[in-house]
Amino acid sequence: MFNVEDIRKDFPILSRQVNGKPLVYFDNAATSQTPQQVIDVIVDYYSNYNANIHRGVHTLSQEATDKYEQARHAIQKHFNAKFAHEIIFTSGTTHSINLVANGFSSILKKGDEIIVSALEHHSNIVPWQMLCERTGAVLKVIPMNQDGELIMSEYDTLLSNKTKLVFVNHVSNALGTINPIEYIIEKAHQVAAAVLIDGAQSCPHIKPDVQALDVDFYVASGHKMCGPTGVGMLYGKESWLKKLPPYQGGGEMIAEVTFEKTTYAELPHKFEAGTPNICGGIAFGAAINYMNAIGFDTIASYEHELLEYATNKLLEIDGLKIYGTSQHKTSVISFNLENIHPYDVGSILDKMGIAVRTGHHCAQPIMDYFKIPGTVRASFSFYNTKAEIDSLVAAVKKAKMMLA
Ligand code: ALA
Repeated sequence: MFNVEDIRKDFPILSRQVNGKPLVYFDNAATSQTPQQVIDVIVDYYSNYNANIHRGVHTLSQEATDKYEQARHAIQKHFNAKFAHEIIFTSGTTHSINLVANGFSSILKKGDEIIVSALEHHSNIVPWQMLCERTGAVLKVIPMNQDGELIMSEYDTLLSNKTKLVFVNHVSNALGTINPIEYIIEKAHQVAAAVLIDGAQSCPHIKPDVQALDVDFYVASGHKMCGPTGVGMLYGKESWLKKLPPYQGGGEMIAEVTFEKTTYAELPHKFEAGTPNICGGIAFGAAINYMNAIGFDTIASYEHELLEYATNKLLEIDGLKIYGTSQHKTSVISFNLENIHPYDVGSILDKMGIAVRTGHHCAQPIMDYFKIPGTVRASFSFYNTKAEIDSLVAAVKKAKMMLA
C-alpha cells in the first residue's frame, strides 16, 4: 500500500526549513529529490570501492566495474532494451541528444528533412539546428494548439520521403503534455525516418518499453528520477548505434590505437570515452530500482490525483490562467496571475518556503506561442502531498494580494 508519509521519510531534504517555513518542493520537473537509499549508495561508493572501471585487475576496480555494469543492466531492464550494450551512459539528456545529432552529421544530406515539435525544450531544438547548419538539412516543426497539444494532422502533412529524423519529447517540460509518441513513431517509420524520443520529463512518471514502442533512440536523465545530476542514458537500437560514428575520442572507446589507424571498441564502450561518472551511474541504477520498488503505476495514479486536486484548487483563484490544458498530462501546472510577472510570484512563494520554477523553462517557442514572458511552474512528485498543495494555493492567493 502506498503511504506518502512513509515515502517522505526516505527523503531527508523534505524535513528542512526554507525561510523559516517547512520546505514545499514543487520544482521536480527541474530536478527530483534524492532518497536516503540512493544517498547511501553514493556514500558507500566513495567510502568503500572508489576506483576506475574497466581498467584495473585490482579488487576495487573490479568491484566498481561490477556495480557500474549492474546499473547498466538495471537501466536496460527498466526500459526493456533488448541488450545491455544498447544503453550508453551519458552526462544527461542533453549529452545524449548531442551524441545522436553529431552522429547524423555524416548520414544526412542537403535537403533532407528533420521534424521536431513546437513543444520542445531548447536541448531538443538547438542540436538539430546545429546539425542542419552542418549538413544543409531542413528543420520542420509540428505545431501545437491552445491546449498545448501537438496537431497530428499537421504532422502527417510534414512527413515525406525527405524526412530522415523525427525528434519529439515524450512529455513537455513546460506544460506537462504527454505526446502521442506511439503514433509519431509509427508514422515516421512508414517513411523510413528514425525517431528519437526525449524522455527527460516522462521518465519520472512513465515506464517506457523501448521494444514495444519500436523507438530508435530514447534518452533520459538520472537527476529527474531520484538519482544524481551529471548522469543520464541513451538507448539506441543496436543497428543504429553500430552505424553512428563515435561522439568523442579518447580512452576506453578504442580497440587498438597506432599513429596510423585507430579501431573502435564494441558497444557500449564506443560511445563512452574517458572516465565516466562512475558513482553517478551506480546511483542512477539504484534510483531506478528505488522507483520500481514503489511501482510506476502507483506513482502515476497518485501524481494524477495531486494534479487534479491542484488544478481544481488553483482554478478557484480569480485571474489565474493555466497553460497546458490537455487531458493527457503529467503532474505539471504552468500558470500565471493576470498582469503579474511570474518571477514576482515565484519570489514571494520562495519567501514562504515553496520552490517552483519561473521563466520560460528553456522552451521559449512555447512562451512565444502564448505571447507571455514565462510562467510559474509547479511540478509534483510522488512524495508531495495535498497539504503541500493547500500551502501553495494559500501562498498564491497571498502573492496575488501583495502584487495586484
Ligand atoms: N529541463 C529542466 C526544467 O524543465 C531543467 O526545469
